[in-house]
Amino acid sequence: MSQQHDTLWTNVNVYTASGAGIIENAAIGVRDGTIAWVGPLPGDSGKPIDAREVIDGRSRWVLPGLVDCHTHLVFAGQRAGEFEARLAGSSYEEISRAGGGIASTVRSTRDASEETLFQDAAGRLRQLLRDGVTTIEIKSGYGLTIESEEKMLKVARRLGEAFPVRVVTTFLGAHTLPPEYADDRKGYLRLICDDMLPALAGQGLIDAVDGFCERIAFTPEEMGRVFDVARSLGLPVKLHAEQLSDSGGAALAARYGALSADHLEYLSEDGVRRMAESGTVAVLLPGAFYTLRDTQRPPVGLLRKQGVPMAVSTDANPGSSPTLSLRLMANMACQLFSLTVDEALHGVTINAAKALGLDAEIGSIEIGKRADFVLLDVDEPAEFAYWLGGNIVSELVSGGTRLDLAAL
Ligand code: NIG
Ligand code: FE
Repeated sequence: MSQQHDTLWTNVNVYTASGAGIIENAAIGVRDGTIAWVGPLPGDSGKPIDAREVIDGRSRWVLPGLVDCHTHLVFAGQRAGEFEARLAGSSYEEISRAGGGIASTVRSTRDASEETLFQDAAGRLRQLLRDGVTTIEIKSGYGLTIESEEKMLKVARRLGEAFPVRVVTTFLGAHTLPPEYADDRKGYLRLICDDMLPALAGQGLIDAVDGFCERIAFTPEEMGRVFDVARSLGLPVKLHAEQLSDSGGAALAARYGALSADHLEYLSEDGVRRMAESGTVAVLLPGAFYTLRDTQRPPVGLLRKQGVPMAVSTDANPGSSPTLSLRLMANMACQLFSLTVDEALHGVTINAAKALGLDAEIGSIEIGKRADFVLLDVDEPAEFAYWLGGNIVSELVSGGTRLDLAAL
C-alpha cells in the first residue's frame, strides 16, 4: 500500500473470481486504470490510506466486470413473428428452411444503414451495461457480403469507441448460406476464404473467426477450410457447435485449438474429452435453449468432470435468444443447466474472459488486471443469480473510471 492510488474503494466485500475467493471487509485500489491493491482495508492493518480519492463502498459486494463472450448485438429488425410461429408449433429449423430465421435478419441488416445499425445496437448495449457488462464480444454474420459484413464489424468497433466497454469482434461469415449462393456452397466458401477474411482482417476488423456448424449451416469439413484461412491470418477460432444435433463441431474446434465451442446441447462424451485436451472453453447459452424450447441439456456433469471451463453468455440475437441481460442468463444457467452459483459467476467473468483469450487481462479482481468491476446492492453474491430481472447494480467501474449509470 505504499504507492499512491488514484482511487481507493473501501468497505467492500469482494468476489474475486480468482484463487483468492472471497475477501470480506476489503479495499480495492486503482491506479492508471489497473487494480493495484485488493485486500484487507489498509486502515485495519495500520498502513496509511494513500489515495487521491477514497470512496466508501458501503458494504456492497463487488464482482469483476461482467464479460459477455457471445453476442450477435449488431442487427436490424426483430423476429417476434417467428416467436409466434414457434408458439404455434413450428420449429427453429423449419422456420430456417422456409427462408426465415437467420436469412430474415440478413435481409434487414443488408438494407440498414451503418448509422441505423449503430443506433439500434447502442440501445441494446446500454441495457447490457446496466447489468454490469464491461467487455462484450460482437459477431458479424447477418451481412454475408463483404460490404455488409464490413458494415457490421465497423459498427461493432464504433460501439467500443463510443461506450466505456471493451468490444471484441468476431467474423461470422460462415453463419448461413446467403440466398444468392443457395446452389453454390463452394462459391460462398471461396468468397469467405479468398475475399472476406483476408480483406476484413487486413482492415483490423477481426479479432476471432466463428462459424455455425450444423446441418442447416456448414459441415465440419467446410468449417475446417475457413479455420485454415483463419490460422494463416493468425486469428483465433471458435464455433457454434452441437446446438441442434451432434455434428462433430466441438471435435473440429478442439483440433484447431479453438478458444471456445458454444451452445453444446448435443455434445458427445468424446467431444467433451477433446475440448478438455485442447483447453477449449464451453460457452453455455441458456437463452437459446429456453427460447427454442430445447429439452436436450448440455452435458454439464461431463464438462465438470473433465475440467472443461464453462462460460455463460447471452447469445443476444433477434432469433434464438432475444435477451439483454447477462444476469438473467446466470440465473438460467443455474436453473436450467444445474450450474452452481459459483460456476455461473465464474461463467460470466473469468471463464468468459478465457473464452475470449483475455483472461490474463480481465475477468477477475486481482492486482495487475484491468480495473473493471461492479458493485451490487446485495447481501451475498448468490443474489446475482437469484433475482429474476430488476436492477441490483449500484456502481460500475470500467478501466478504473466510475461510470454514471443513469447517463449511459
Ligand atoms: O447463436 N446458431 C446460430 N446463430 C445464432 C442464432 C442467430 C439467429 O437465429 O439469428 C445462435 O443461436
Ligand atoms: Fe450465437
